[in-house]
Parts: sequence; C-alpha cells; structure tokens
Amino acid sequence: MNTTETLELIASLEGYLHDLRDSGVDGLPLGAAVAAIALPDAVPAAHSPALPPVAADSESPVGFVAEGAIHGLDAVREELGECHRCRLGDTRTTLVFGTGNPRARLVFVGEAPGGDEDRQGIPFVGEAGQLLTKIIQAMGYGRDEIYICNVLKCRPPQNRNPQADEIEQCHPFLLKQLRAIGPEVIVALGSFAAQTLLKSKEPISKLRGVFHDYHGIPLMPTFHPAYLLRNPGAKREVWDDMQKVMKRLGSQGGKG
Ligand code: URA
Repeated sequence: MNTTETLELIASLEGYLHDLRDSGVDGLPLGAAVAAIALPDAVPAAHSPALPPVAADSESPVGFVAEGAIHGLDAVREELGECHRCRLGDTRTTLVFGTGNPRARLVFVGEAPGGDEDRQGIPFVGEAGQLLTKIIQAMGYGRDEIYICNVLKCRPPQNRNPQADEIEQCHPFLLKQLRAIGPEVIVALGSFAAQTLLKSKEPISKLRGVFHDYHGIPLMPTFHPAYLLRNPGAKREVWDDMQKVMKRLGSQGGKG
C-alpha cells in the first residue's frame, strides 16, 4: 500500500470512528484505536476500557478550580505579550502560546514550534502534529477537549535545539499556563520536553512509561510524534503509555 492509499485508509477509518462515537458508541476494542494511529504497521489488538468524557467543570488535583482557568490563561498570555525575552522573539513569525480546552484534564507538552506552527500560531499542526492528533483521537478525545503547548513558545531558527537561556526565559510561562489549567495528567512529548520538565538528563527511553511528578501533577513522558514518524515501531510503546494515561484519568473519574 502506498502512502496516499494509507492516508486515505486512515481518513476513512477516522470518519468511521467519529460516526460510531456520534452514534453513541463510547468504547472500542484497542485494536480499532491502534488502527487509527498505526499508519502502515498496525500493532496487535488488545482491549481498552470505555473512555470517560472530559469534564467541562472538573476540579484539578492541585487545587485549581477550573472556572479560573480561562481568565488565568488570558492573564498569562497578556503577561507574555509580544515577547522578546530571548533572541527567538527576533526570528519567529508567530508566538505559539497553546491551544485547546483551558479546563483540560490532560495537557500535552512538546518541544518548540516548527515551521508550520510558526506560520499558523498553533502547536502541532505539521506532520508530527497530525500524528499527535490521531493519537489524541484514538484516546477518545478531540484536540478541543485537551490542551497542547510547548516548552518554547517561539520557533528556534532551522528547528535547532532550544538553548538553556531560552528555556530559562520561557519555562516560567509554561508553569503558569499549567497552573492556570490545573490538569490531572501531563504528557511530555520527547526527550526535550521530558528532560526540561523533570530536570533530568535521562534519555526518553528510560523516562517513558511511568508517571513522574511535575509540581504535584502526574507527568507521563513518551516518544515525540516526530520520532514516531521516523520509527513507526515505537508506536506500540506510545500506545502503552497513553493507555496508562487513559487509565489514570478514568480511575480518577467521577469528575468526568
Ligand atoms: N514539534 C513540537 O515539539 N511542537 C510543535 O508544536 C510542533 C512540532
């Protein structure tokens, strides 16, 4: 099957899954969910529990009442302004703040905007972003139900690695964003996000798969979708990690 045929197949599967959800089906065998993200190389099927809906008015475990989230995020955005705290302010096209539900129970944190994100001002809209969207959908969520942001809000030139002083300037705003949202779980995408948030030098292969603590919020590191594009075999591990995240959100249910 060539790439075009594969993408068409995925689009039709996605449509089918959406139709099922719209018609009231709230759980599917894992095999179907994996098929939606697996691209050419599907992984073996297992069974996933039905997913709880995302609560619009949930209270986070870190004590932030969700009602304040929208105002809180607006205040962080305002404080950030047309940021020039580091050199990336001179080279970016658009500052990429974050997108999604200001009251999200689940937040994904990536590394930094790439070219597509820099142009559009929205995180994870390029090829890796499209794969992330499929992963999110396979988990039973839409992008508007969760929240997506990055460690850095501006694109490093030529997508080079973020530098220490850039992180130092930007990280406080990520922390304020996360405090405003008060999610129940954070997913760190890739080495850079995981190592930055956890102040660790361990490789992502060692960090992933278990929950860590980020200012009282459980954080699951997993492989970055861009890595999955190069190493599709690692989708199995990412899906394992996401199942742990889903279970965590489900087991803390009653709010959702
Ligand atoms: N990679 C990231 O880490 N973040 C984006 O927003 C896009 C690609």
